Amino acid sequence: MVEPHEINWQELSFAYTPTKYMFIARCGADQKWQEGEVVPYQDIPMSPAACVLNYGQGLFEGLKAFSGKDDKIYLFRPEENAMRISEGCERLCVPPLPVEIFLNGISEIARANREYVPPFREESFSQGSLYIRPVIWGTGPILGVAPAPSYTFVIFACPVGAYFKKGFQAIKLKVTTEYFRATKGGTGYIKAIGNYATGMLPAQIAKKEGFQEILYLDTKECKYIEEVGAANFFCYLNGTLVTPELDGRILPGITRSSILELAQKRLGLKVEERKVSLEEVFQSEEAFSTGTAAVVSPVGSIFYKGKEHLINGGEPGPLTKKLFEILVNIQHGFDPDHYGWSQEVCQR
Ligand code: PLP
Ligand code: COI
Repeated sequence: MVEPHEINWQELSFAYTPTKYMFIARCGADQKWQEGEVVPYQDIPMSPAACVLNYGQGLFEGLKAFSGKDDKIYLFRPEENAMRISEGCERLCVPPLPVEIFLNGISEIARANREYVPPFREESFSQGSLYIRPVIWGTGPILGVAPAPSYTFVIFACPVGAYFKKGFQAIKLKVTTEYFRATKGGTGYIKAIGNYATGMLPAQIAKKEGFQEILYLDTKECKYIEEVGAANFFCYLNGTLVTPELDGRILPGITRSSILELAQKRLGLKVEERKVSLEEVFQSEEAFSTGTAAVVSPVGSIFYKGKEHLINGGEPGPLTKKLFEILVNIQHGFDPDHYGWSQEVCQR
């Protein structure tokens, strides 16, 4: 276990660094979730016949705790994660996790691990945070393909820096027409653990070729943008900020909805949620991806069928930068947050 004083906060990446405490709650055959408790970080004993290990009945969330200038710790919109995991539970036949258990667990884990929240630093405050990972697994044993007889909810946390190695610099995307992320009626709109296993091969190939992420297209026409690996996609086109509509395949990102609201209300921009074709994206002035891990990551180029298409000359655009700044300022609790998004947890 790394002690907080041993961490070099400036060098953090999106790597696994365990912290001292985790939260755990269980749900048995009566389908009722226990309140849960904070315990020392530890492994989870599980039957080899656990449903999650054999049939993938599991889902997760991701959110962050930030240090503010006032040395307080802030969470960003945790209720949204609570609601999204509830939708996921329904789709995967997991007994619904009460919102209060989820929210209480998040606050408790941020508080218990507060020394692991990267301290506020004026010059680089935008990169460090405590990434909080809630996960629900069907841990009970079962042989036939059916929901597990019992479940475990765990929240663990890791201090992290930027998701993409270079921080706020333009990333290169590769469009795949060979692999797809989600289909109609599938699980694209929830954070099912299996969604992420299937993305590993295309991402691995793209990374070997020098790209940072995959840009996924729709399965039907192979023409419209869906997502950027584990992040949502935006482009700025003819004075309008455009993002793919939520069609049951795309994950309803919390950063996505925050950016849509900020662009409209703070910057007075026109926004559209609709089908976005690749051809349109090639004409766009700016493009970026959004996510809890990715924050707002500028897209510099898109590689498609042997050709590289530069966006804004391969550089982060001014609107992308502006939206990034507004968002991280709110997340760190020092921009007047008119939306009640940033929630104080405790003193660091
Ligand atoms: N899309 C996928 C597939 C994701 O895994 C994530 C990450 O959570 C996102 C988009 C962005 O969602 P959010 O902004 O809620 O983190
Ligand atoms: C997040 O942004 O929270 C994610 O879940 C992305 C990821 C799989 C690292």
